[in-house]
Amino acid sequence: MMTTSRILIQWALWFAAFWMIHLPKSGAFSLGAPFQKTLATFKDAVHQVNTNRKEITVEVAQIPEDLPGIRACRSTVDFAQQTTGNLLASQKSFLNATALTDPKLNAICVIARNAQGSIVGTTDCRVGKSEVVVNNVLVRPDQRGQGIGEKMMVGVEELIMPSASTTKLTLNVYTDNKPAVRLYEKCGFAISDPANAAVFGLSKLTGANLQVAMSKTIKR
Ligand SMILES: CC(C)(COP(=O)(O)OP(=O)(O)OC[C@H]1O[C@@H](n2cnc3c(N)ncnc32)[C@H](O)[C@@H]1OP(=O)(O)O)[C@@H](O)C(=O)NCCC(=O)NCCS
Repeated sequence: MMTTSRILIQWALWFAAFWMIHLPKSGAFSLGAPFQKTLATFKDAVHQVNTNRKEITVEVAQIPEDLPGIRACRSTVDFAQQTTGNLLASQKSFLNATALTDPKLNAICVIARNAQGSIVGTTDCRVGKSEVVVNNVLVRPDQRGQGIGEKMMVGVEELIMPSASTTKLTLNVYTDNKPAVRLYEKCGFAISDPANAAVFGLSKLTGANLQVAMSKTIKR
């Protein structure tokens, strides 16, 4: 008896699922329409994400023209004190992009734009004789996890390194910042000196959030 009713329930569920997915297309039934609509919205959303991913362009920022867009992108960062007006000097300078307006610093900003032209990611690079230091890698919080960070890192290599006098890229990262550490590892950065390897080991051992330097040497 139990088995028969279980089979009947199973059949009823299969029938309902088939009805909701297929029959509303004919217009004969309306109960499945909201489901179809939800399905269509979902498909649209997936398509939109894929489309956005393809339409991200990475370029060197034009200063001062791009400063408002860079600042708007950076203003999305959730610093705990941002609303209190009690920002650290380094955070203020990051938000205002002051490094980009000081010619002595030799800073170049690589930006990612979406299809609408809005800046959704930025990174500042200090071009030195023996190394290019990558700073302030940021993707807008609502745009993360779509490959934009990776595209920007590739952009740094393709747009900046050909005219640099060095093949070495360096950056600093906190060991607790897993998304950033993985992004850099994926892009070929590694801890290359014993001192930083020791700091990294210590962080793993103790769980302390420590800053380490990573580097990458590109091929010419
Ligand atoms: C770090 C950051 C720039 C990554 O940007 P993103 O556009 O989300 O990264 P991507 O989508 O290009 O991801 C590339 C790779 O990074 C790693 N990654 C990104 N987000 C991750 C997450 N939340 N958890 C674990 N790994 C992550 C993955 O390896 C990923 O590759 P995969 O998707 O093939 O696994 C972004 O999280 C960010 O802006 N963080 C705040 C600012 C910051 O901490 N900057 C770094 C300062 S050193």
